[in-house]
Amino acid sequence: MIEEDVLITLVSIIECKIERIIMMKYIFKTLIYVALAVGVQAQENMAEKTRRMQWFQDAKLGIFIHWGIYSVKGIDESWSFYNNYIPYEAYMDQLKGFTAKHYDPMAWADLIAESGAQYAVLTTKHHDGVALWDTDQSDLNVVKRTPAKRDLVKPFVEALRKKGLKAGLYFSQLDWSHPDYPHHTRQVKRYAPQDDMGRWQRFLKFQKGQLKEITKRFKPDLIWFDGDWDYEAEMWEAAAQRKMLFDINPQVILNSRLNGYGDYGTPENGLPITRPKDEYWELCLTMNDSWGYQPNDRHYKSVHQIIGVLAECLRMGGNLLLDIGPRADGTIPEEQVARLKGLGRWVHKHREAVYGVKAGLPHGHFYGPTALSTDSTLLYLYLPHRPNGPLALKGIKNKINRIWTVGNGTKLKWDVKMKAYWSSVPGVVYIDVPESVLDEEWTVLAVLLDGKVEMQPGKGHVVESN
Ligand code: GLC
Repeated sequence: MIEEDVLITLVSIIECKIERIIMMKYIFKTLIYVALAVGVQAQENMAEKTRRMQWFQDAKLGIFIHWGIYSVKGIDESWSFYNNYIPYEAYMDQLKGFTAKHYDPMAWADLIAESGAQYAVLTTKHHDGVALWDTDQSDLNVVKRTPAKRDLVKPFVEALRKKGLKAGLYFSQLDWSHPDYPHHTRQVKRYAPQDDMGRWQRFLKFQKGQLKEITKRFKPDLIWFDGDWDYEAEMWEAAAQRKMLFDINPQVILNSRLNGYGDYGTPENGLPITRPKDEYWELCLTMNDSWGYQPNDRHYKSVHQIIGVLAECLRMGGNLLLDIGPRADGTIPEEQVARLKGLGRWVHKHREAVYGVKAGLPHGHFYGPTALSTDSTLLYLYLPHRPNGPLALKGIKNKINRIWTVGNGTKLKWDVKMKAYWSSVPGVVYIDVPESVLDEEWTVLAVLLDGKVEMQPGKGHVVESN
């Protein structure tokens, strides 16, 4: 017979050993993960990243397309069942109405090109798990389960390429319909992954399978992840996912929603005031207040407001990804078409002040957004309103060689005042903008400097002799 206290000691020794084994396993896994992560990041140096990101950085305008079964009833994409605004079954019933009957990918691509955008991002699978392509990983796709009965992704990617546009694919990591994804709705959780890692691994395998499919079949220039918030990078195996995508296409660009393994920041709807800290970033923006087609939502931003947001993005060195939500039959609502065309008229006219520009002057130099040419010798001033007198440009040390209105080239007059010969403070440049040169939306001026822009934001010295 073993004494009770001996038994207790033995059990606690065994427990300790088990704990140590678990701990060692955890440390080992973490080390492998860190090594993998470092490896992934180290593969590319700064110059290589700059080259890979170049087209994106210069593009400035992209079109986001939220297209899915939620357009049938015209309700919130995926969130409407997750948040219990509609039962899951009623949400999924929309599968029956998703016809894509008038879907004309070439017409979409034409319109996108007309809007002045250089790339588009299509939702290949939203959080509801309905794939817009013929996935081999599950039956939940528009080919097998909707009257559309065809892959909607490939023809669109091909149409974009024909127009010389870059193709981005949105992909939701989380999938509220998949039987192995832990969350189903806000209230209903299927299981906790830590209790059943095997089941979680099954989900990851499915998810990786789909990712591999869209990358190999459609060869996207950009992958727009969404829905990483449920778990940490380690759980998603984000480093390995990034590596897998780069092994397939070393030039692919990934947005930030891959828990730290993306290439650029994605603020959503809220317009930043100061420049976001990410070197590369893109503001995604709804045209009304919905991502997908919602005929009830008529709260559209005007063309003037959309141009204003674009100008703000340019000022802060970012891109605008403007969203549209086509109907279930593949037609694009008239309000959205009108805005894309209105925006396009402006972008094409002012293309030199849009594509490839860099962030502009800090606050205080000019009342309005500004941007700079790549070599910093041309300053662009974006005018939201009709001026009620000459415009003032302050704190610029350079000599100005010429000022003109972008889009029509009209030379403008300017005059420098408040320049004391003894002071280092630059004078205020007053620019005359006659009615005749004004654009119907935003007028843009180009200011040609005698070299790279030099600013003098500080105060000057007091006069010592006069
Ligand atoms: C969000 C939402 C989603 C939308 C996306 C677009 O994260 O989950 O519904 O598709 O943002 O940026």
